[in-house]
Amino acid sequence: MGRWDTQAVGSGVRRVSRSLLGCFLGAVLLASCGEDAEVVDKPDNTGLDPAIESQVDDWLGQMTLEEKVAQMHGTELLPADRIYPTADNERLGIPGFRMVDGPRGVAVGQTTTFPVGMARGATWDIELEYRVGEAMGAETAARGANVLLAPTINILRHPAWGRAQETYGEDVHHLSRMGVAFIQGVQQHVLASAKHFAANSIEESRFQVSANMDERTLREIYLPHFEAAVKEANVGSVMSAYNKLNGEYCAENRHLLTEILREDWGYKYFVESDWVFGTHETPPSLQAGLDVEMPKDKIYGQRLVDGVNDGSLDVKLVDEAVRRILRTKLTFKLDQPEQVPESVVASPEHRALALQVARESLVLLENKHAALPLTNTTPSEVAVIGGLSDTINLGDAGSSNNDPLDVVTPLAGISARLKGAPLHIDHDVLTTADETALASQKVAIVVVGLTKEDEGESIPGRPGGDRETLGLSAEHQALITRVSELVETTIVVLEGGSAITVAPWVDQVDGLVMAWYGGMNGGTALAEMLWGDFSPSGKLPLSVPVNEQDLVPFDNQADSVDYGYFHGYRQLDDDGLEVQYPFGYGLSYSSFEVSDLQVSTNKGAVALTLTLKNTGGVDAAEVVQAYVGYPGSAVERAQRELKAFQRVEVSAGQSVQVELQFPKGSLRYWDTASAGWVLEDLEYEVGVGFSSRDLKLNGSFRVK
Ligand code: GLC
Repeated sequence: MGRWDTQAVGSGVRRVSRSLLGCFLGAVLLASCGEDAEVVDKPDNTGLDPAIESQVDDWLGQMTLEEKVAQMHGTELLPADRIYPTADNERLGIPGFRMVDGPRGVAVGQTTTFPVGMARGATWDIELEYRVGEAMGAETAARGANVLLAPTINILRHPAWGRAQETYGEDVHHLSRMGVAFIQGVQQHVLASAKHFAANSIEESRFQVSANMDERTLREIYLPHFEAAVKEANVGSVMSAYNKLNGEYCAENRHLLTEILREDWGYKYFVESDWVFGTHETPPSLQAGLDVEMPKDKIYGQRLVDGVNDGSLDVKLVDEAVRRILRTKLTFKLDQPEQVPESVVASPEHRALALQVARESLVLLENKHAALPLTNTTPSEVAVIGGLSDTINLGDAGSSNNDPLDVVTPLAGISARLKGAPLHIDHDVLTTADETALASQKVAIVVVGLTKEDEGESIPGRPGGDRETLGLSAEHQALITRVSELVETTIVVLEGGSAITVAPWVDQVDGLVMAWYGGMNGGTALAEMLWGDFSPSGKLPLSVPVNEQDLVPFDNQADSVDYGYFHGYRQLDDDGLEVQYPFGYGLSYSSFEVSDLQVSTNKGAVALTLTLKNTGGVDAAEVVQAYVGYPGSAVERAQRELKAFQRVEVSAGQSVQVELQFPKGSLRYWDTASAGWVLEDLEYEVGVGFSSRDLKLNGSFRVK
């Protein structure tokens, strides 16, 4: 039973805390529902809860201006424990927020380190992502915090983005599903925070760049995953981005924070700024609808009090912001924090979950002449090579960084799986002695890729930033080439948070695995997969181009960048370009077929049914994907867009029925002229298959 799911009140009246809030709410709930009545704690998504609104009115009526403004900003620039507070109001018994990062693990003390968001995006496993959110929400509460500053759900416009690892991928639908699942999990315990709202996808110019786009691109490409976070996951907070949108800072952008977020989507909780450089001037932020300035007051402290007192700022806008803040605290019961024991943090269950995510995130990109799995290979026949092979490489050193208790590296995982030490070369430039030793090896596993030095949040004095190129370093490429000349079977394992181009060397290798930043148990999952303990099922949540020039331009120096309607697979399709590995691609140790596609429409949705057969010899999972095309559309459309997917486990030789559904509303386009959504009366095409470029079955359906 989730914390804010409906709970019966009556004989089993929930313990209410002694604060004014608890007594007040308890009294109202008892008075209005009597014995054993069903009481919805969480106001329904459309209306407001009268008991909560009444309590907010009561508090606002009692608060001084200074007390109101004290609700609207944090109080510590760099808290030692990384828990960012806003003030409590002792007099009225109103608790403050306690906010903590981060998307790959709770950034307070030592906690479970999960695979990064992009790796989790590669699992395409919505139920698993819910469990990751629930685990991280519980660890947040165990650390005494009540807001987890995650998920990062900025769409991956270009894989060179320094923080690509934090988000889930390049597609709106896939990103929405993963983000909603994570938020729903987190909010079983604490508030999640959908960030960074919006269009934050260039790192090094993030504090000043203006992302410019037309309204259709904004509504269809850069916002739907935030809209889903609000409307489907009831996200408790939204973080405004550093950058500008069409020339206006996001924290000062009324179109974004009020007209869209609140008036169009019905969001009723609070918006916090991004840290320090996320706010600029008081009046525009107050008028735009920014509620909380983090990590401490610059525009929302004395300047705000003075502005109201001198009449230049409208106290009604302060009241509206404080109302949203108080409504959030009441709705999410911040005064009755869930008591979660310390033992939950990095518990055996959470560690096992991190391992399962790492397993499902591995994407097998090449497997020539079934080089993998490596069955019957003894430790003496195996070489594990590369500076990264025994290095802790979990992701960037920025705000998403968390402190793992322990980590299984690729070498440690392989040694454990082999029950013996393979030949280990822990550097990237081979010596003559290395080459001599390699000549007698049967299999070489070369671990290369990116580290926090190559990509990550851009914080002065720390490594990170956007990537210069999408390829491997010259050293890593030379190592791969040389090893492939010396050893019979060469398997390359890539670590990183985004697309890595491979064209210069991929023909020289026998196996290729994208292992991402695989979390604290990544090495165990990798070894299990290489030796066939399970079949890989990961699918790319992004496109890997043949040449990085095939993608949209990535300019991280300009102060103004035009965002087009197309990027990723939709752009590569539109440009008619070959891709190295398409969006949704990943190999298996088994093989699958789909058949019997049936397409039907009911009043609000399109339903697909089909048969999925595991035609190979091993149990495995496949991700069935459905893409829609819009022939005859009145406006420019992508050739095909993902509208539904499902990860399905099938035993060897078995068949299962798969049902996919998507709302007709997902077919709409934003008509800028009428400033509204249009659902066209078309004969839509639908393709079903195993990647955006591997559609096996086709059908069509009409929507009137
Ligand atoms: C950072 C990041 C944001 C993070 C916040 C607190 O600058 O942009 O994602 O949650 O500050 O660390």
